[in-house]
Amino acid sequence: MPESGVTGAVAEPASGALLNWGLSEGSTLKIFLDTANLDELKKGASWGIVDGVTTNPTLIAKEGKPLAEQVRMICDIVDGDISAEVVSTEAPKMIKEGLELIKIHKNIVVKCPLTRDGIQATKALSGERIRVNVTLCFSPGQALLAAKAGAYIISPFVGRLDDIGWTGMDLVRQIITIYKNYGYQTQVLAASLRSPLHVVDAALAGSHIGTMPFKVLDMLFNHPLTDKGLDQFLKDYAKVFHETPVAG
Ligand code: E4P
Repeated sequence: MPESGVTGAVAEPASGALLNWGLSEGSTLKIFLDTANLDELKKGASWGIVDGVTTNPTLIAKEGKPLAEQVRMICDIVDGDISAEVVSTEAPKMIKEGLELIKIHKNIVVKCPLTRDGIQATKALSGERIRVNVTLCFSPGQALLAAKAGAYIISPFVGRLDDIGWTGMDLVRQIITIYKNYGYQTQVLAASLRSPLHVVDAALAGSHIGTMPFKVLDMLFNHPLTDKGLDQFLKDYAKVFHETPVAG
């Protein structure tokens, strides 16, 4: 086994979740919220369907608190993988930052950008069994590099590709095919999802995770026939029992 460049400890393979690409019983699309806003996270968490959180420097900056402080509060709200991104651009500094970030909470996943330095840092951190989410992925070749470096998660940005006239979801499908071909354990996280349709397409493609802004998760609930149907049920009930049903 190779020796790690971070602490000199003997490296084990990256500690990615064991994946079964064959859509085994019990496999699910994990829903992550793409926000650092505590109110949104509390609301989402109260629904019981949020499996994790992704943040990025823009989202952290919006909340105005130092990264470590904000991320610690997020970890108190959602019990699942919480991605926190490094802001250094050189590998040694990214590694140092990553080692600091994981001290915040056991659920922290270090997020590194898909640059040469980011991949070098990913390789070193993964060699220490530290979970890395490689972000800003826009091509299948980039995703291949991330998997080879032992990434725990790869984040292809669907919406940002759509924005420049490409079909972002094609990238997700290509990555899944490549990872399946070689049995890579890296989880595919469909990122930059901008609509409920994006979420459904990410699920149809077989993504392991979809991360979305709070408003997209909220929109997933909506259907006019649900509202109409419920309204009718309650009216029919009230007509006979002259009351609005109350639980219990
Ligand atoms: C993912 O981790 C990113 O934070 C996010 O999905 C980017 O989305 P955007 O393109 O809507 O900013």
